[in-house]
Amino acid sequence: MKTIFPENFEDLERSGIGKIAVQGLGMEGVYPLWFGEGSEPTPKLIRDAAVAALDAGETFYNIPRGRPDLRAALKTYNDTIYGIDLHPDRIHVPASTMLTVMIATHMVIRPGDHALIVTPHWPNVEMALKWAGAEIGHFRQHAEDGKWALNVSGLMDACLAHTKMIYLNSPCNPTGYVMERPDQEKLLDFCRDRGIVLVSDEVYHRSVYDRNSAPSFLEFAGDDDPLIVVNGFSKGWAMTGWRLGWMVTPKGYEEQMAVLCEIYNTGGPSFVQIGAIAALEKGEGVVHDLRQGYAESLAVANDILGNHRRVDHTAPEGAFYAFPRIKGIRDGLAFAEGLLIDAKVGVAPGYTFGPGNQTHVRMCFAMKTDKLEQALRAFTHYLDTH
Ligand SMILES: Cc1ncc(COP(=O)(O)O)c(C=O)c1O
Repeated sequence: MKTIFPENFEDLERSGIGKIAVQGLGMEGVYPLWFGEGSEPTPKLIRDAAVAALDAGETFYNIPRGRPDLRAALKTYNDTIYGIDLHPDRIHVPASTMLTVMIATHMVIRPGDHALIVTPHWPNVEMALKWAGAEIGHFRQHAEDGKWALNVSGLMDACLAHTKMIYLNSPCNPTGYVMERPDQEKLLDFCRDRGIVLVSDEVYHRSVYDRNSAPSFLEFAGDDDPLIVVNGFSKGWAMTGWRLGWMVTPKGYEEQMAVLCEIYNTGGPSFVQIGAIAALEKGEGVVHDLRQGYAESLAVANDILGNHRRVDHTAPEGAFYAFPRIKGIRDGLAFAEGLLIDAKVGVAPGYTFGPGNQTHVRMCFAMKTDKLEQALRAFTHYLDTH
């Protein structure tokens, strides 16, 4: 059939996460470890604020760049956790972290520009970059001394003359890698020198298990640095279905960002933003409780995965995924499909997180410990019998 659409439209293909999830959603008794979210609904204090806002008639258009009270709350939140004084004009509130990634991509990339992704990586980023016409390069994290690590000098060497963007996600989905401050400084210095925009995806900033928040580039970057920090409410406050994110861009672009926020979707729903204000202003306890639960689940995952002969597991420092390599398999998608059908354990196949991951799987462990233990026992039983 002759196509009426451009080639890169015809080429679009769902990620491996979606391929498993569509088969498993609705399956009786399935353990859903495929998506990046916990099993519990958003805490009540946040839900109550949004319900009250709806009842009060907060159903109208609002300022596309985000409600002023939410942007003020975001300034206070960032200032407090990072000990900074963020310029308010730098903060914008698109409807989801995904949308902040898309907006950042379109701010920086024109067809043919090179974008370097630190991999293994969340597949949507690569899809967004492809859709924008980027030529994509990957630079891989590696396991070292029992944790995931990144050779920052190697990453810098992998940049080309036409590299316009580096995408880094720390804490990382799927590996849990966390970049520490000295490496952050080195990387931002390099980007400044080379005029490369660093897109720092910090959506898991509260999902770290040895401190209150992960190191952020915002802690030391200047107002004019070539840095876009993308973040959101989904992970830290268990608000995945609410679809609200925020982004911090260099100073001086309020006008342009207002236009982008307007043309992408004219801002997040007002009552959702009011829920987000409650999350920021009253939600520290929620963040701590959620994290405590994930930490307990992480211990279960480390114990079970770390002690199976066919599982090569590197313990994550942050986020809420395990990304083990499974010994003795060749095709991760076929493995994930078999695992889903026979053991009712739904995992994301490794290939979807970038090259070199065909024998890995990603498992979200943000689940209550008893259920997670059952899921992982079903998984290891499958390995023992296949
Ligand atoms: C690394 C990363 N960035 C961004 C997102 C998108 O988050 P949101 O659901 O808020 O759009 C995700 C979601 O899984 C993610 O893992």
